[in-house]
Amino acid sequence: MRFSVYLEPMSEKELRLQPRLQCIAGLVPRGARLADVGTDHGYLPVYLLQRGLIARAVASDVGAAPLAHARRTAAAYGVPLDLRLCAGLDAVCPDEADTVVIAGMGGETIVSILKQAAWDWRGVTLLLQPMTKAELLRRALPELGLHTVAEHLVRDKGTIYAVLTVTAGESEAPTNAEAWCGAGLLHDPLYGEYARDRLEKLQRAAAGLRQAKTLDSALISTLEEDAAALQAKIKEWEDANGMGH
Ligand SMILES: C[S@@+](CC[C@H](N)C(=O)[O-])C[C@H]1O[C@@H](n2cnc3c(N)ncnc32)[C@H](O)[C@@H]1O
Repeated sequence: MRFSVYLEPMSEKELRLQPRLQCIAGLVPRGARLADVGTDHGYLPVYLLQRGLIARAVASDVGAAPLAHARRTAAAYGVPLDLRLCAGLDAVCPDEADTVVIAGMGGETIVSILKQAAWDWRGVTLLLQPMTKAELLRRALPELGLHTVAEHLVRDKGTIYAVLTVTAGESEAPTNAEAWCGAGLLHDPLYGEYARDRLEKLQRAAAGLRQAKTLDSALISTLEEDAAALQAKIKEWEDANGMGH
């Protein structure tokens, strides 16, 4: 379903973004034709349109209420936002966007949106920001014909999030440590904290499973293997940064 936005006279107000969305905004190529999937309040496209940083934006959401929020945000800030009520990219044509943002959702949902989209990703920049299960997303990308060109970390309200810049292209399956902590983040100032936090999550998940009544020993072994790989990576990183004991 398509909607257009009633524009109020040019708004004097400037929309400000929280650090997580600000980081993503900084990675959107200038002049992009943007598709923001799962836009919710529409803050990201409205921010970019208001500053003239992108040429146009389509914002989709599976929920009518979030899309109504996006409509109100666009009207309040006086920018033309093209709205689509649909799952993922179902109502967005590939020729409408050269940059696709899928942010603020679980890694599993992002993977299912990518699988469902009948897009040829060549020439498209994807910015993917999982709230959970980043490891699942990183592991799925090679099978989808996608390749991570960069990752960035950002802290927002005490949590560190990874933002992946992805394009079409072949890539190797990530190692266990890379799946959990990315391949190109070793020089990021937040890497140590991010990696230790991911390790803690892994160890907690393995401990929880060990205590569960129905013992899934295969999954426990996988988690323990991942934890060992990540621990070794962290040690390597600490040694390289003069933090080894
Ligand atoms: C937490 S909000 C994130 C909003 C914004 N993208 C951000 O990063 O702040 C998640 C939004 O994704 C929408 N959503 C969830 N699954 C979706 C799907 N498969 N397709 C489109 N939108 C989806 C939800 O309705 C919700 O508005």
